[in-house]
Amino acid sequence: MLLTEKTALITGAARGIGKQIALAYAKEGCNIAFTDLELNEAAQATRDEIAALGVKVQFYASNAADFDAAHQVVEQVVADFGHLDILVNNAGITRDTLLMRMTEQMWDQVIQVNLKSAFNFTHAVTPVMMRQRSGSIISLSSVVGLNGNAGQANYAASKAGIIALTKSVAKELGGRGIRANAIAPGFILTDMTKALPEDTLKQFVTMIPMRRGGEPEEVAKVALFLASDLSSYVSGQVIQVNGGMA
Ligand code: NAI
Repeated sequence: MLLTEKTALITGAARGIGKQIALAYAKEGCNIAFTDLELNEAAQATRDEIAALGVKVQFYASNAADFDAAHQVVEQVVADFGHLDILVNNAGITRDTLLMRMTEQMWDQVIQVNLKSAFNFTHAVTPVMMRQRSGSIISLSSVVGLNGNAGQANYAASKAGIIALTKSVAKELGGRGIRANAIAPGFILTDMTKALPEDTLKQFVTMIPMRRGGEPEEVAKVALFLASDLSSYVSGQVIQVNGGMA
């Protein structure tokens, strides 16, 4: 068991990559606090699947882009669980279109949900982890945060911001025993990518040396490594999980 007695907070974990991270942690004995916008069927199912693994689990309905709400969630998690060892900034959205057609609202929404949320939660957990003199903060970036992508200027910028935030946090808080790392997934098969047209999906796969999209469980394995002591001297890094995409 890699995470016995630990508590993890994962944002946007009702489904997709966040859900698989929660399950991977729970299988290693970790207690799970997770957020999403509302307690819908997906969130309830996730909560039940985690509980079936025999760990403590609590769901918090919260908009990760809201600074005060993020702080309230963290305060409540510490009250409910007693401590907080791992934060996973996972909540994210896309509002894809070419730059010329991108509205101010599309830009603002993506930056708020993808990048500001990571600031909100990182800011809220910092005093808690500083007091504990330990903690692991993991944020979901993307391959497009490293390379850019036509039609995703807002999303790519938000994911590049995640990398700079992560590296800065690693430098600021390393002396307090807090590690910060980012995961940059490539093309992962979740609801987010299922929304893409069939042709685009097929085209993506031809660009991947492993000739397939990744499963959310394959991202979760890296998130498990970064949360656990297996990565005790790894900080400020971006780990790509992309089937060999350049
Ligand atoms: P998804 O769309 O399947 O799940 C995202 C979850 O976040 C949903 O449950 C959604 O309700 C929640 N969410 C959205 N806005 C929120 C908010 N304001 N507050 C709280 N929760 C919110 O997406 P997926 O694919 O699981 O992605 C997870 C993360 O991984 C995202 O940050 C995404 O950008 C990133 N990522 C995904 C890739 C992929 O190919 N699927 C590739 C690279 C990065």
